[in-house]
Amino acid sequence: MAGVRSYSRRIRRALSTPAAQLTIVLLFILLGIRIVLRNNWDAEEIAPPIAAARPTKKVEDPNIDWSRFKYVQYVTTPEYLCNAVMIWSQIEEIGSRANRIMMYPSNWNQDAVNPVDLQPTPIARMLEEAASKYFVQLYPVEVLNRSQSSEATWADSYTKLLAFNLTEFDRVLTLDSDSVVRGNLDELFLLPPAPIAMPYVWWGQPAGWRYSSQLMLITPSAVEFARIESAITSAKDDEYDMDIVNKLYKDQILHIPQNPYDLLSGEFRRATHAQYLGSTSAAWDPEKALSEAKFLHFSDWPVPKPWIRAPQDLLNKYMPRCRKSMAGFGASDCRDREIWLRLYLDFALKRKEVCGKGFELQSKELPPNSIMADGKWFHPDQIGT
Ligand SMILES: *[C@@H]1O[C@H](CO)[C@@H](O)[C@H](O)[C@H]1NC(C)=O
Ligand SMILES: *[C@@H]1O[C@H](CO)[C@@H](O)[C@H](O)[C@H]1NC(C)=O
Repeated sequence: MAGVRSYSRRIRRALSTPAAQLTIVLLFILLGIRIVLRNNWDAEEIAPPIAAARPTKKVEDPNIDWSRFKYVQYVTTPEYLCNAVMIWSQIEEIGSRANRIMMYPSNWNQDAVNPVDLQPTPIARMLEEAASKYFVQLYPVEVLNRSQSSEATWADSYTKLLAFNLTEFDRVLTLDSDSVVRGNLDELFLLPPAPIAMPYVWWGQPAGWRYSSQLMLITPSAVEFARIESAITSAKDDEYDMDIVNKLYKDQILHIPQNPYDLLSGEFRRATHAQYLGSTSAAWDPEKALSEAKFLHFSDWPVPKPWIRAPQDLLNKYMPRCRKSMAGFGASDCRDREIWLRLYLDFALKRKEVCGKGFELQSKELPPNSIMADGKWFHPDQIGT
């Protein structure tokens, strides 16, 4: 016992010398530096390698010629025509300085009528309404095709690259139509000059950071379009529009910040939000994220796109979980789930309002009067209403 005591006394005496104290202080400093370095490293992992591009002017600048800029959507099927018109109606509600163009297959007839009642076909009616209600310039195109491709849908996805051929304009912003425009996007036209600007695929771990074609700010150019065309002709079967632009413009793509320009519906199902928020310390507030998002893309694999009614069991399995509430006492916070379900419900309502007959949600598994109870969807028959 006495041995131990004298030993500890000896240590205490050693620690009280100036040299020892200096060593201890140095050790703490080193430890501090390490922690800071480690956190910086984490920040690098969650942040894209290139800084986000910022507009070079204010949208109010009177010298901007907005007629040089266009919002562009492409459609190749009736489903996507309705989606696109929904987006145009959102842009019309919000207002935009740049005008609107919709590319559609030249073999669609704007004057087609149903032989039975002589009313316009759903396609003809949608095209007409896009032009008359939402002031969209209709732009018929030959749908780009990859001759060796057997998958029509993949071939269709190249069509959005036709935006490179809109050389009468300085800049065009292409929007994927399985999305919701929630805020004014005009400022994106004012990003610094570049052949193309896109948001990152920040959710695609561990694939790493790549750019997404959900939103593309393109500088149309005959030279660039020729490069695109030749890249499409020689594309492999598993190369899509996104692969082509990522490859062609590897180091020239401007980075559109995902927050607030490219929120995914699937974000509300994720456990971590550091990638979207671009910070490990920022707290996730689903209501704030949604209210600030200017563009939201539906992506919830394996939950189908919102114009297809998801089977009830799939929905119950994959909808966002409630979290433990910050308020404590075992309370739960279901805002993620409520917002997510609301996104799908709002889409269905908007679709009915904007597109009407001929564009009803597909599959009859969950009727529109389904009831949400205890965090699950029920068929009205199941609860006897
Ligand atoms: C696209 O290519 C496929 C397969 O070669 C062909 O059947 C189809 O008619 C083409 N479509 C167009 C619009 O050229
Ligand atoms: C590209 O634009 C030019 C000029 O407007 C047009 O003649 C040509 O057909 C377009 N190419 C495609 C593939 O649409």
